[in-house]
Amino acid sequence: QKDGHDWFMRKEIHEQPRAVADALLGRRGVDGRLQLDEMRLSDQELRDIDKIIIIAAGTSFYAGMVAKYAIEHWCRIPVEVELSSEFRYRDPIVDYSTLVVAISQSGETADTLQAIRHARAQRSKVLAICNTNGSTIPRESDAVIYMHAGPEIGVASTKGYVTQLVACYLLALYLAQVKGTRYGDEITQVVEQLEAIPAQIEKVLAKAEDIYRLARHHVDSRSFLFLGRHAGYPVALEGALKLKELAYLHAEGFAAGELKHGPIALVEPGLPVLCIVPPRGRDQLHDKMLSGIQEVRARGAHTIVLAEEGDDRIAPYADELVTLPRVPVLLQPLVAVIPLQLFACELASAMGHDVDQPRNLAKSVTVE
Ligand code: F6R
Repeated sequence: QKDGHDWFMRKEIHEQPRAVADALLGRRGVDGRLQLDEMRLSDQELRDIDKIIIIAAGTSFYAGMVAKYAIEHWCRIPVEVELSSEFRYRDPIVDYSTLVVAISQSGETADTLQAIRHARAQRSKVLAICNTNGSTIPRESDAVIYMHAGPEIGVASTKGYVTQLVACYLLALYLAQVKGTRYGDEITQVVEQLEAIPAQIEKVLAKAEDIYRLARHHVDSRSFLFLGRHAGYPVALEGALKLKELAYLHAEGFAAGELKHGPIALVEPGLPVLCIVPPRGRDQLHDKMLSGIQEVRARGAHTIVLAEEGDDRIAPYADELVTLPRVPVLLQPLVAVIPLQLFACELASAMGHDVDQPRNLAKSVTVE
C-alpha cells in the first residue's frame, strides 16, 4: 500500500509529479482555451465579481495566500485571504458581487463549512477547491474545482497542497481569460509552464537523499525559522507548519522583510534558518532576500538556502544550499515546498515520531 515507502507521507510526497499532472488534465479545450468542467458559474456571473475572499484553514490557508498573489497579478481583482475559523465572527462585508473561494482538501472541515454557509446566507457565490468528490463543502457550493490529487492518507497535507495550488492557478487564469485581463497567449504560456512542473518536481525529488542527510544533522535542534518573500512567504509558513505538526518543534515562518520589526531578536548562534530565495528574474526581490539572509547570518544563524539553479550570487549566503529548478516567481511554491516536506518528514522520522499520525491531529477536522 505504501509502495515500498515507510510512511504514507513519503509515498505521497513522491506522488506529487503525478498529482500535479492529473490536476492539469483535460483543462484545455480544442481551441486551446482553458475550461473548468465543474465551474457552473456563467462568464457573466464571473465578470460581475468585484472582490474575492478566500477562506481556508492550515495548509489550505497557505495555498490561499499564494492564490491571492496570482489572482491579483493576473486578474486585477482585490483578494482577501481569511482563516475560516475567523471569517463569520467578524461581520465580513460580502454580497452578490463577492466570490468566496473555499479551499479544503477533505471538503469536511467544519470551520470552512460554517464560513461558506455564512457567505451564502449573504447571497455571495461560493466556489470550492476540493479533493474529495461528493464531500459536504463542494455539495454546498455554487461551483467546484476538483484537485484530483487522489486519496491523501498521511495527516500532513503534501500532494493536497500542491494540487490546491494548481487549482488556484487555474482559477486565476480562467478568471483572467473571462475578464480579458490577460491575452490568450500569455495564459497559454503559464499553462505550459504549469505543465512543465511535474518534471521539475521530479528533479527536486531526485535530491531527496541529500535533503534527508541535511535533516538528520538537525535532530538536536529545537527551534527553526523559515524566511521567504512574495510567493515564497506562504511557503515559509507551510514549511514551519510541517515541522511543528510532524516533529513537534518550535518553527516559525516570516516574511523576510518583517525580520527587522521584531523576529530578528530570536536569532542566536547556530539557529537553523531555512530561506526560500525568489528567482533572479525579480532582481529587487532577490536582492532584498539576500540582505535578509545576511542579517541572520551576521548573528550566527545556520542558513539552509533554497535557491534556483545557476544563482551565482547565493554561495556566500548559504551554509547549506538546496537548488531548485528555474520557474517563474508565482509558480515557485510548487517546487520550493518539496524540500521542506522532505525535511520535515525525515526529521520527524529520525526523532522516532509517527509521521502519518502525528499526536493530537486528525485528517479532517469536523468540529469548530
Ligand atoms: C496540515 C494540514 C491541516 C489542513 C487543515 C485544512 O498539514 O493537513 O492544516 O490543511 O486542517 O484541512 P482541509 O484542507 O481538509 O480543509
